[in-house]
Amino acid sequence: MPAERATDTATEPSGGFPPGFVWGVATAAFQIEGATHEDGRGPSIWDTFCATPGRIEGGDTGEVACDHFHRWESDLDLIASLNVQSYRFSVAWPRVFPEGRGQVNVKGLDFYDRLVDGMLERGLQPNATLYHWDLPQALQDRGGWGSRDTAYAFADYAEVVTKRLGDRLAFCATFNEPWCIAILGHATGEHAPGLRDPQLALRVAHHLYVAHGLALPRLRANAPGAEHGIVLNLTPSYPASEAPEDEAAAARFDGFFNRWFLDPLLKGSYPQDLWEGYGDAVPEIAAGDLESFAQPLDFLGVNYYSRAVVAHDEAWPHFRNVPAGEAHTDMGWEVFPQGLTDLLVRLKRDYALPPLYITENGAAYPDRLEGGRVHDPERVRYYALHLTALQEAMRQGVDVRGYYAWSLMDNFEWAKGYSKRFGLFYVDYATQERVLKESGAWYREVVRANGQGL
Ligand code: NOJ
Repeated sequence: MPAERATDTATEPSGGFPPGFVWGVATAAFQIEGATHEDGRGPSIWDTFCATPGRIEGGDTGEVACDHFHRWESDLDLIASLNVQSYRFSVAWPRVFPEGRGQVNVKGLDFYDRLVDGMLERGLQPNATLYHWDLPQALQDRGGWGSRDTAYAFADYAEVVTKRLGDRLAFCATFNEPWCIAILGHATGEHAPGLRDPQLALRVAHHLYVAHGLALPRLRANAPGAEHGIVLNLTPSYPASEAPEDEAAAARFDGFFNRWFLDPLLKGSYPQDLWEGYGDAVPEIAAGDLESFAQPLDFLGVNYYSRAVVAHDEAWPHFRNVPAGEAHTDMGWEVFPQGLTDLLVRLKRDYALPPLYITENGAAYPDRLEGGRVHDPERVRYYALHLTALQEAMRQGVDVRGYYAWSLMDNFEWAKGYSKRFGLFYVDYATQERVLKESGAWYREVVRANGQGL
């Protein structure tokens, strides 16, 4: 019918994103700030980890990083030059509480106060993450996230930060990537504090959510105008074959990686299959914990980079990742945009979701600065494919409100040090010069057009 066709045309995706879709770029304090000894900042577990020989590629540290602590104003100018509406950054706990708790370091808070004002002056919506991995070392010395006390210290820290900044924040997330904090930090030991104790890792994951649950009401009280949430790294898993044991392995991987972190937040329970699988290693649950974990969120942040292809393994936990695909980034991660669509559609199917934001997506490639330019077509391709995959999920009804590219500029890539470059701006670490990569110029135009013509 012609009338229907007319309506169809009017509602057909224009190729762009909905009006009001939030475009942004993301960073994290330890990865860019440097100035680890300045203005009263205390040491964090990442300073300690970096000082431990053999932990970080090339022996790199966060002492200088991108020197953002001194260059924040020109860095905000760079962000604004990309046409984005929002900047996702993190607050360094050891700048605010050098000892983790107790005495507030006002100078540390002042830095973020200036930074947030600087964002507003440039029309950028501040999106703060309270914990992007830099636990004050003093708290680690008292048991770190293995101790429930750390959750109480976090709630106090969250209170102080949002009392100061809350009137100006647009978004506030408690944690970035609890899976990485718990598993890479406490089970595999690849990240600070570098421990290898799977049971401890599960206790840590639990305490992170205790902290999240304690902080959330305080954030709401101090920043009533902001949207409050949490950021998870999610990795969709695919069986290596149609064999039932590979399918079971993929389901187990999904439980280990995704459901263990999603279910407590969105269902108020741990996944039963994994709970049984973990046996005696499961964490102790205090009365009220699960209810507090599942308090309503204003948003869920999703960090997506790649997928996992999984096969059965005889040894517990009975799965292993198998290599897959043809295109890989410099991290060795498969370029698999379909995974983003699948993941988002699956989240909508399995959970009662708050609005979603893609809080990180991006790729490392071995960029070279040549003749003042960085030619990085692979990164352009990566972004284009993932934005298209995101649009497809939205077409299928997933409510995604924004997208943040990881990252604004090359920075300290944790255990990989400065060897991996994720930036839209290239950083020449010898001079601290920032150079817009071709992908950065491309992203700037995508944002300007609100994704039209991708
Ligand atoms: C996840 C983390 O949030 C971020 O800190 C890291 O640099 C990127 N992914 C890339 O690995």
